[in-house]
Amino acid sequence: VDASFGIYRLAEEHGYVRDAVREIAEGAIAPYAAEVDDKPRFPAEAREALTNAGFHAVHVPKEYDGEGADAITGAIVVEEVARVCASSSLIPAVNKLGSTPVILSGSDELKREVLPPLARGEAMFSYALSEREAGSDAASMSTRAVRDGDHWVLNGTKAWITNSGVSTYYTVMAKTDPSAGSRGISAFVVHKDDPGFSVGAPERKLGIKGSPTCEIYFENCTIPLHRIVGEPGTGFATAMRTLDHTRLAIGAQAVGIAQGAFEVARDYVKQRKQFGRPIADFQSLQFMLADMALKIEAARQMVYVAAAKAERNEPDLTFYSASAKVLASDTAMSVTTDAVQLLGGAGYTKDFPVERMMRDAKITQIYEGTNQINRIVMARQLLK
Ligand code: CAA
Ligand code: FAD
Repeated sequence: VDASFGIYRLAEEHGYVRDAVREIAEGAIAPYAAEVDDKPRFPAEAREALTNAGFHAVHVPKEYDGEGADAITGAIVVEEVARVCASSSLIPAVNKLGSTPVILSGSDELKREVLPPLARGEAMFSYALSEREAGSDAASMSTRAVRDGDHWVLNGTKAWITNSGVSTYYTVMAKTDPSAGSRGISAFVVHKDDPGFSVGAPERKLGIKGSPTCEIYFENCTIPLHRIVGEPGTGFATAMRTLDHTRLAIGAQAVGIAQGAFEVARDYVKQRKQFGRPIADFQSLQFMLADMALKIEAARQMVYVAAAKAERNEPDLTFYSASAKVLASDTAMSVTTDAVQLLGGAGYTKDFPVERMMRDAKITQIYEGTNQINRIVMARQLLK
């Protein structure tokens, strides 16, 4: 019997993790969620609370000083933080995204250098695949890396990099052999203090405003040879395998956002009175709530199944992880929109968090591959 998903329910330990994260989320993250969106500013309080409790990067293997938690635990952490603050949930989510290439393909030397500081909470990780002209078509990137004696020298610009400026480490995909297409791409770990590395101004966004998104620049950025992740030419496959493990975490983020909005709407309709009775008495609103809850639960189950498959490294993970992301993000968009509707005019104001949740939900349909691209990923695996 598989301990992590044996009898079609989560292990008791997963429940303990959920309770512990929820307590931190409600006590130390929720109080700042409106402010980090409004200003906007990085949720430093969330980083500190998650780090103090050991929830900032639970996926790091034990041999590199981490918790070695399974993928379902990681998903629960992201889900519970996103339930109160989507921006803050990108701290654990992108720590995993940025470091997974190293965990999957890095040398032991590189792992020993970069994973313990992540596990200790001293360093955060970002993941740099996208460029202005290479988003969905990621393999068409133009950032270059050239070997120069005992160094790699990087030149180019990566766009849309989550948590840039806050992170210490950036896993960067760059072309080492421009004539070889996706097989000419390699992955590297760049440190924020490496010469020739810099961070641009934050994008002004619709949502997840507390999570900085910037361009990052490489101008003859020079890094030691051993900071390549795996063999030259394997960077694109590593980047894609990484997304197989992390798209489900964006699914978890979407489930959390939807759950948060659902709870606000459910509580509101019970106390708001019109026509002499609570609006929860109107069956049309009851049906909306029922549909919201069923979609959230379906998406949540899909995320956990994908996480269990990630844990077991099953070959259909690509399909499941992309599916979990698509189902959960479409759910988050529809549930948060309905939550605003259930609150009427109040839902459209900043007096309630549902308008923020609706704005935050939108990104889950766009990043880690748009939902169109994820459908391509799913179909390719189905037709293989
Ligand atoms: N595992 C291992 N290898 C894989 C793979 C996988 N899941 N998917 C593809 N590959 C390999 C292929 O086998 C192929 O290798 P060979 O040539 O050796 O056979 C190579 O990669 C190229 O594959 P494709 O021909 O399928 O590549 P493509 O150019 O057609 O692109 C794509 C495929 C799915 C569209 C891909 O470009 C893609 O995923 N685009 C979306 C990009 C994306 O998701 N970006 C997310 C950025 S991170 C982010 O957004 C973070 C955040 O928000 C917080
Ligand atoms: P485009 O590729 O230009 O797509 C535009 C539209 O065309 C979309 O609707 C798309 O679905 C559609 N489209 C494109 N190709 C096809 C096709 N073949 N078939 C059907 N439809 C298609 N990237 C990182 O590397 N690291 C990060 O940390 C990161 N964080 C991000 C944070 C934010 C807030 C944002 C907005 C983006 C982030 N990204 C990050 C980038 C993100 O992954 C890309 O924005 C995304 O992959 C889409 O690329 P694009 O923006 O260039 O859109």
